[in-house]
Amino acid sequence: MIDCWTVLELLKEPLPTAVIGLGKRGLKHISVLERCPATALVGLCDSRPEALAPFSGAVHTSTDAERLLSEVGPSAAVVAVSHDAYMPLIGHCLAKGVSCLKEKPLARSLSEARQLERLAAGAEGKLAIAAQRRHGDMLSAIRAVMAAKGRPPIAFQYVYTLGLTPSGRDWRDSRDLAGGGAILDMGYHVIDLLTALLGVPQCVSAFDQRPGGSADGYVENGATLLLSYPAGTSGTVIISRHLSPEAERATFWFEDETVEFDGQRVTSVRDGERVWLADMQSSEELIHRQLHAFLRLHSGEPNMSCDVASSLESMRAIELCYQALESDGIAHTRPEAPEPSWRTRSTPAASALAPVREGGFSQ
Ligand SMILES: NC(=O)c1ccc[n+]([C@@H]2O[C@H](COP(=O)([O-])OP(=O)(O)OC[C@H]3O[C@@H](n4cnc5c(N)ncnc54)[C@H](O)[C@@H]3O)[C@@H](O)[C@H]2O)c1
Repeated sequence: MIDCWTVLELLKEPLPTAVIGLGKRGLKHISVLERCPATALVGLCDSRPEALAPFSGAVHTSTDAERLLSEVGPSAAVVAVSHDAYMPLIGHCLAKGVSCLKEKPLARSLSEARQLERLAAGAEGKLAIAAQRRHGDMLSAIRAVMAAKGRPPIAFQYVYTLGLTPSGRDWRDSRDLAGGGAILDMGYHVIDLLTALLGVPQCVSAFDQRPGGSADGYVENGATLLLSYPAGTSGTVIISRHLSPEAERATFWFEDETVEFDGQRVTSVRDGERVWLADMQSSEELIHRQLHAFLRLHSGEPNMSCDVASSLESMRAIELCYQALESDGIAHTRPEAPEPSWRTRSTPAASALAPVREGGFSQ
C-alpha cells in the first residue's frame, strides 16, 4: 500500500527534511518521516526548548527556524505550528528554495490564503497543504460511486465531534492566533472533503452551538452548517469540539443507494443489501500517503491532492461559513442569483460534478 520505493526512485535519494513545530501534530510527522525511506530527517525546530530536549544528540535541533535552515540546509520542511506562526516560517523556507508541507488549514482567512498563494507562486520551493482525509479510501469510494452513477448525491449528513473540554488557554481559543474556531480547525477536514467531492457551495447557513467569547474575540466551539452545491446536492454538517462522544460519521444519499461511513468502514446499502466499499486508514497511514503526495509535488509532478489551488477552494467554502455566522445565518456565493425553479430544473449532468484533474484527490 505504502509505496516508499517508487517515490524514492523518483527522488533518486532520500530527501533531507526538517520538521518545524514539535507539538502534537509535528511529533506524528516525525514518526512517519523516520519510517519512510524516501526521506532523511536532518533537523528539528521548536520555539520551546523543552520540546527539543528528547531529540538532542540524535538530530540537529534549534529554537530558531531561520538558523536551522542555514545550519542544516534541508530540501524540504514539514511545518506544524500554531496558525499565527506560519506566514514568516513558510516565507523563510520558500525564499531559501525549501519545499514545505504545511499543516492545515491553508490559512487563517481567505485573504491570508491569497498572500500565501502569491508567496508560493514566485518560489523555487514547492508548497503543499496537509489535509489527510484527501488521501483516504473514503473519498475515493464516494467518488467511485459518483462516477459510476454520473451524478452527485442528493443529500448528505456529516457529524464530527471531539468530546473535548476547551481549556480556554490554548492558541486555539484565540481568534487572532487561530483565525477561527471549530469551523476552521476541525471543520476544515470535513469542508475540504466536501469541496473535493462537490466543489464550492453556492449557499451556506451556519449556526453556532454555544455562543461565547474570548479575550480577543469570539471563537466558535462548534457549528451546525447547511450547505447547498451548484449540482443540486444539499446537506448538513455538525462539527463540535465539546459535544460527546467523539465520533465521525457520514451518510450520502443517492436515488437508489446510500453510502455510509461509520468511523471505521465505508459501506453501501442498495435494495436492502449492505456491501463493503472501503476501510478508513489509520492516521499514520494517511500522514504517510500525504507525505508521498508532497514528495511527488516536490519532484515536479502536479498533485491536486495537496496543492494550493485546490485548498483555496476549501478556504472559499470556509469563508462562506464565517460570512453566514456573522450575517444572521446565511451566505451566498451569488447574492443576485435568480430563484431556481425546481419544477423545470433538469437533472445535473456528470459534467456538473466537482472536476477531477490528473493527480486529483482520488488516489
Ligand atoms: N491534519 C490533522 O489532523 C491535524 C491534527 C492536529 C493539528 N493539525 C494542525 O497542525 C498544526 C499544529 O497543531 P498542534 O495540535 O500540533 O499544535 P501544538 O500547539 O500542539 O503545537 C504547535 C507547536 O509549534 C511550536 N511553534 C509555534 N510557533 C513556532 C515558531 N515560530 N517556530 C517554531 N516552533 C513554533 C509550539 O512551540 C508548539 O510546540 C496546526 O496547523 C493544526 O491545525 C492538523
